[in-house]
Amino acid sequence: MSIRFDAKYAQNIVSSSDIREMAPKAVEAMSTLMSKTGEGNDFLGWIDLPTNYDKEEFVRIKEAADYIKKNADILIVIGIGGSYLGARAVIEAVKSPNYNLLCKDTPQIFFIGNSISPASLNEIVELCEGKDICVNVISKSGTTTEPAIAFRVFRDLVNQKYSAGEAAKRIFCTTDKAKGTLKGLADKEGYATFVVPDDVGGRFSVLTAVGLLPIAVAGIDVDALMLGARNAQNELCSDNIDENPCLKYAAVRNCLYNKGKKLETFVSFEPAMAMFNEWIKQLFGESEGKDGKGLFPSSCVFSTDLHSLGQYIQESGGSLMFETVVKFAECTNDYVIGMQEGNIDGLNFLAGEKMSVVNDKARQGTLLAHTEGGVANLIIEADRLDAESIGYLIYFFEKSCAVSGYILGVNPFNQPGVESYKKNMFALLGKPGYESEKETLEKQLGL
Ligand code: PA5
Repeated sequence: MSIRFDAKYAQNIVSSSDIREMAPKAVEAMSTLMSKTGEGNDFLGWIDLPTNYDKEEFVRIKEAADYIKKNADILIVIGIGGSYLGARAVIEAVKSPNYNLLCKDTPQIFFIGNSISPASLNEIVELCEGKDICVNVISKSGTTTEPAIAFRVFRDLVNQKYSAGEAAKRIFCTTDKAKGTLKGLADKEGYATFVVPDDVGGRFSVLTAVGLLPIAVAGIDVDALMLGARNAQNELCSDNIDENPCLKYAAVRNCLYNKGKKLETFVSFEPAMAMFNEWIKQLFGESEGKDGKGLFPSSCVFSTDLHSLGQYIQESGGSLMFETVVKFAECTNDYVIGMQEGNIDGLNFLAGEKMSVVNDKARQGTLLAHTEGGVANLIIEADRLDAESIGYLIYFFEKSCAVSGYILGVNPFNQPGVESYKKNMFALLGKPGYESEKETLEKQLGL
């Protein structure tokens, strides 16, 4: 098994008999998922993606990535939510949060259209000055406002920089196979298109062209990523809770929820995992947070946040929350602390020690401190921080999330709450079709 799950540091709160009691519910939830008989069952395409993906498109993704690598200094990736977080999470985890400063043979990659901030947009436009650029716009619906605004700007930029024929070759659209404004625009302008399958929702789409094209452009081995996910698909099937870490994790987090914990914080001791935590937060937040239910997903990078949120977690977190720590067994880029004459900084007791060992001692120290403070620690251990393990973790969290949502009694595959702000924003902006709501909303705001 390429992943280990350890719930022993939650046992003061969740006993083995609690877990045994929850086990049949978890098994039933997984069976509902795998038999495709539960709510949202038209969005289960992600279950088979690691084996049953469009092989022809996979080749086209690699070819497009090669074209972009050869012809662009910068790839602009436009998308929001599930059409953004996965790609960025994988690039930062496998390469680095400083990828854009370190990349040599691959283009810089900037993400935009994930907010409506004019400052962010202007900044990226400025960074493109004098550079060759390609654009990958990603929107399943093809109508989301944030990416649509950014795409208008970068389409203009590409059209200004290049001849019509050249511009069309530099824009890549990832969207619905047949419908939506973006698909219509791509067909009209002759842009290359990649498909977000009908049965794969945004937050479950990182292993489609949505994630794979930007990830491949960053020079990450997408075959290894898919292999990791495939291993997870094959391994995380058992009905025996002690043999299936995915099932056990889903069960234990529901036990904790039932014991009154309302917040789960995803912890990593590797700063490169910060964006991966953002991806997990969206996955769980949009999948479980509905019908007045669900754990609030949050995240920390330790030891960084031990110097900010650590105080709260230690002394006030116990009643509210638990931690899910993702750790790696092997460090692939270690540093050995040197000896210094005079020992003025008093650190010679660490001379010759690997920094990964110091980091792990910090993790163990935190584990003891936080569990003493009443904060349960769940530990998920993968082999090492590379494309294969990240592929595995992606599938692990997707399946755990779906099983967990069914245990909780929600439809994990819809996101009705995301629509409310959009409706209000459109009405306040005076979008045609929303006229009647505008006046009422302005009155509510006291405008
Ligand atoms: O998970 C989801 O479904 C959402 O987060 C979407 O990915 C997000 O709203 C972007 O939607 P779209 O790809 O249609 O632009």
